[in-house]
Amino acid sequence: MKHVLITGGAGFIGSNLAARLMAERDCQITIFDNLRTGSLANLADWAGNPRGRIVVGDILDLPALQAAMEGVDTVFHLAANADVRGGETHRRIDLEQNTIGTWNVLEACRAAGVSRFFLASSATVYGEPEVFPTPEGVPLIQTSLYGASKLAGEAMAQAFSEYDGLQVTIFRFVSWTGPSYSHGVVRDFCAKLRDNPERLFILGDGSQRKSFLDVRDGISGLLHAAEHGTGRVQIYNVGHDEWLGVNEVARLVVEALGLEGVVFEYAGGDKGWKGDSPFVLLDTARLKATGWKPEISIAQSIRDTVASLQRAGLA
Ligand SMILES: NC(=O)c1ccc[n+]([C@@H]2O[C@H](COP(=O)([O-])OP(=O)(O)OC[C@H]3O[C@@H](n4cnc5c(N)ncnc54)[C@H](O)[C@@H]3O)[C@@H](O)[C@H]2O)c1
Repeated sequence: MKHVLITGGAGFIGSNLAARLMAERDCQITIFDNLRTGSLANLADWAGNPRGRIVVGDILDLPALQAAMEGVDTVFHLAANADVRGGETHRRIDLEQNTIGTWNVLEACRAAGVSRFFLASSATVYGEPEVFPTPEGVPLIQTSLYGASKLAGEAMAQAFSEYDGLQVTIFRFVSWTGPSYSHGVVRDFCAKLRDNPERLFILGDGSQRKSFLDVRDGISGLLHAAEHGTGRVQIYNVGHDEWLGVNEVARLVVEALGLEGVVFEYAGGDKGWKGDSPFVLLDTARLKATGWKPEISIAQSIRDTVASLQRAGLA
């Protein structure tokens, strides 16, 4: 890794990855981000460092992407529509931002002679699996356009690898939490409780079970895989051994905000939305075999997330 380009590097996961690479590796870093959901403030800690460069651009703009990719040997592709819920009403967004966007990034990698490609995929590609914890090898039946677009991205990366010898590493993430958290259930709960600290409306019946992973552990996992993986195409689940019920997440958020007597109300049903997976728990044995394991409990990460949202004035 001499020159790393991170698409979506101004977002939640990308900015944490950039900060770790900046602190721990002696590489050049290019951030390529259109700032749709990301923010330059997430990169402020190292702005001005001569090893870093920020290009404001869109992955759908192939010439801009190709220009930014010159001299790059390693790409972490994180830019995406990361909103899992929107696909039912916005039928094109995942196709354009995630599927076509990923093709563009791969094509720019090919043109620039990039040797390693890391892709942020998602546990959503498992839909509603029958095996828990879910290993990488189960059948993949899609329940959302977001998941389908991520799976299409995985498949195209594998094909580019066959054609061009690109070394591909695919990460299937559970929900991440922690500093610079941008979207997801903890932020939704904090926003709702800020509007009304007496009631919390919960999608589904609160019984959904979800695994989460702190971004600090997650980045360590990515870097372990980058160091230890040797195959042409590798796929890693990235998650925690623990899971929490959504009701428990709600209780932790309420407690961290110092609120009392909050009444929980429910939309009902065993899912939060169409395409939601009622139980997410990934088998991470493959990533653990590289020597990695999560160190931060889900409860602690949720508390830290609430504190970071409070510091940012979002809770
Ligand atoms: N956060 C999670 O829990 C989670 C779980 C599973 C998968 N993922 C995947 O991880 C990646 C990073 O997610 P995140 O949570 O950091 O999301 P995020 O929204 O915080 O970051 C995405 C970044 O991509 C940028 N971006 C979006 N569309 C772009 C485009 N067309 N061109 C250039 N930049 C663009 C945004 O401005 C943002 O900075 C995404 O691919 C997401 O699907 C995230």
